[in-house]
Amino acid sequence: MLVEYIISIFIIFILFPLAIAGKSMAPWVPTRKADVTRLLELLDIRQGDRFFEIWCGDGRVSAAVAKKFPQVKVLGIEIAYPIFFIAKLRQAFCGNPNLSIKLANAFKQDFSAYSHVYVYGMPDKMAEKIVPKFMKEARQWSKLYSYVFSIPDEYRKNVISYGEENQAKIHVLEKK
Ligand SMILES: C[S@@+](CC[C@H](N)C(=O)[O-])C[C@H]1O[C@@H](n2cnc3c(N)ncnc32)[C@H](O)[C@@H]1O
Repeated sequence: MLVEYIISIFIIFILFPLAIAGKSMAPWVPTRKADVTRLLELLDIRQGDRFFEIWCGDGRVSAAVAKKFPQVKVLGIEIAYPIFFIAKLRQAFCGNPNLSIKLANAFKQDFSAYSHVYVYGMPDKMAEKIVPKFMKEARQWSKLYSYVFSIPDEYRKNVISYGEENQAKIHVLEKK
């Protein structure tokens, strides 16, 4: 009886939110640590810039950016509260006042305030939702960094892809 009760709680409070998140945009698969380091090297962030991680997962990317660039405001948004909770713990341990982690649907966030937007999401959602939203709302010269998944071909002339053959690609779309 107790075991059934625990299993039900686990399904309702842990698996169900994760399944919804996976269906919404992308399941939780974090950016590899070595690739977070590569991203930090790619970011050409200046004073006054703002960084937004669309689906922040456990917050590792947002936390690393906030740590490396303390002058930059960093926002990470996650929809599944078990993972959001991990990201909040990370934020508490990090102690960077420039880092903010929110539980919300990232697709409802206005992109216009962010000069650098990072995403690791499924290619169909990228093509249907994220890239068009970025192109519509982001300010000129803002950059969208897409981990692994390529940006649709129609934007190819504004995209630079980074990564050796044995590395995951980081595709950078600049709004011109
Ligand atoms: C592939 S993971 C990437 C995590 C993180 N960006 C990273 O690179 O380590 C995608 C994350 O998006 C979250 N997610 C899915 N749909 C979402 C939505 N509509 N709003 C916010 N987060 C969402 C999932 O719960 C999952 O944690």
